[in-house]
Amino acid sequence: MRLTFVTTNRGKANEVRNLLKTFGIEIDVCAIKLTEIQSDNLEEIAMRSCEEAYGVLKKPVFVEDAGLFIECLNGFPGPYSSYVYRTIGVTGILKLMEEKENRAAFFKSCIACKISGEPPSLFSGVCIGKISHEPKGSSGFGFDPIFVPEEGYGKTFAEMTTEEKNAVSHRGKSLRLLVEWLRFMR
Ligand code: IMP
Repeated sequence: MRLTFVTTNRGKANEVRNLLKTFGIEIDVCAIKLTEIQSDNLEEIAMRSCEEAYGVLKKPVFVEDAGLFIECLNGFPGPYSSYVYRTIGVTGILKLMEEKENRAAFFKSCIACKISGEPPSLFSGVCIGKISHEPKGSSGFGFDPIFVPEEGYGKTFAEMTTEEKNAVSHRGKSLRLLVEWLRFMR
């Protein structure tokens, strides 16, 4: 069975390809634009996108939805991270947090995978960390330059290699759960 990862985000595709390769899993990446429903719940967003992708491609697929949840902003931008990134971006988030001492935040990733007519299976991963005071690094994508994971020796995601980020990231965690499940399904 060959899986297709449906995403228009090249950064994500790169991370996912890289990690799955270490487990001997080669995937196809398909950049079709899926409808992103409005919901407070990443699982629901991923589940609906996955059903849509499977409906279009009619073969085993998975999708991933992620968000950045900032404690002092009551979890904002959370499921709206993609819109917030496109509108106010990294600079806007730093501005909103200018006076804030509490920099705690986490990323959450939710993968939905559908290989047959059954409802999609879901796999989630969380990465706890802090929002830095200034952007650092140039790798990765999105909010990577301002997110310092707890297990990352003080580096932002954007200062890490793909392998280093995958070892501690929300996406790395949800992907490893997907891999375990795929082994079980064989
Ligand atoms: P999506 O809706 O899952 O594509 O992601 C929402 C937004 O969250 C993206 O546009 C990125 O700005 C941000 N994001 C998600 N995952 C990451 C990550 O691993 N690093 C940095 N930003 C991320």
